[in-house]
Amino acid sequence: LLLLECGRDTTIVAVGGGVVGDLAGFVAATFMRGIPVVQVPTTLLSMVDASVGGKTGIDTPYGKNLVGAFHDPGAVLMDVSFLRTLPQPILRSGLAEIIKHGIIADAGYLERVERLLPEIAVTGAAANDLPSIIAGSVRIKAQVVSADSHEGGLRRILNFGHTIAHALERATDYRLNHGDAVAVGMVVESRIAEAMSIAPAGLATRVGDILQRAGLPPTLAAAAQRSGSSFPSPEALAALTRTDKKAASGSVRYALPVKVGAMCEANGQWALPVTEGLVVDALRRS
Ligand SMILES: NC(=O)c1ccc[n+]([C@@H]2O[C@H](COP(=O)([O-])OP(=O)(O)OC[C@H]3O[C@@H](n4cnc5c(N)ncnc54)[C@H](O)[C@@H]3O)[C@@H](O)[C@H]2O)c1
Ligand SMILES: [Zn+2]
Repeated sequence: LLLLECGRDTTIVAVGGGVVGDLAGFVAATFMRGIPVVQVPTTLLSMVDASVGGKTGIDTPYGKNLVGAFHDPGAVLMDVSFLRTLPQPILRSGLAEIIKHGIIADAGYLERVERLLPEIAVTGAAANDLPSIIAGSVRIKAQVVSADSHEGGLRRILNFGHTIAHALERATDYRLNHGDAVAVGMVVESRIAEAMSIAPAGLATRVGDILQRAGLPPTLAAAAQRSGSSFPSPEALAALTRTDKKAASGSVRYALPVKVGAMCEANGQWALPVTEGLVVDALRRS
């Protein structure tokens, strides 16, 4: 941008998936102490997740999401026709976040998503109701982030499935696709919620069943097979969650579901400390 002699009157337009949006957003947040960015997401994941909420950042060899800035886009423009060229595994990655939005906030929305899954399996992004599903997902994410723009509380619920997912991604050197990691991560974390009597028995099975129908891996074995690598032991995976940046003062906190459509809140906190033994046990049974 400096070479091009861009100044404060520049606007960056980010056309691409979450990686492009995160990088362009971070450049916009820091160039001349902040210039406008317009997000034009071209993957399902970036439409329903990365382009909404104002988080930007770059990955470093030290871990995910360690360098970044909050920088709201001036506008987000979505054209679902972009999705027609998306390879199936990348489309599925976005479905994992869509399913997550239903589980954390809206049971009725999740049912609509479930009804659409058979059509998506056949027609991919050409499914008739996909635009309205995307709009529903954006609405849920926007509601959460507008209630808590800088991740003090409620925004933590968006992290459902992700504490485990980030450990799995790191364990496979990021060969495991993010959506696949979040999918099995939601099953493991539902199992933790069941073990703590936060959620009724059967929730993890129900979540796994939806993921299976979406073509996403509901078990660790299925996820490992997808990534073409094997996972370390449950103990080693649980140890990897400790380095997640959300681990404040030694105890790893999890956003846990009470049931489909509602997350657990205790004393204004939306993420609860979980003992490592429970995590190991849930991993072993997944
Ligand atoms: N800022 C946030 O709040 C936030 C939220 C979620 C994820 N993310 C970040 O987003 C990234 C993942 O985003 P992603 O899943 O979009 O991955 P991505 O940006 O890596 O895109 C996946 C692949 O699809 C290709 N692609 C993009 N659009 C296409 C199209 N229309 N047709 C064919 N191919 C296309 C890309 O070139 C790339 O190879 C991660 O780095 C993650 O950390 C950020
Ligand atoms: Zn995610």
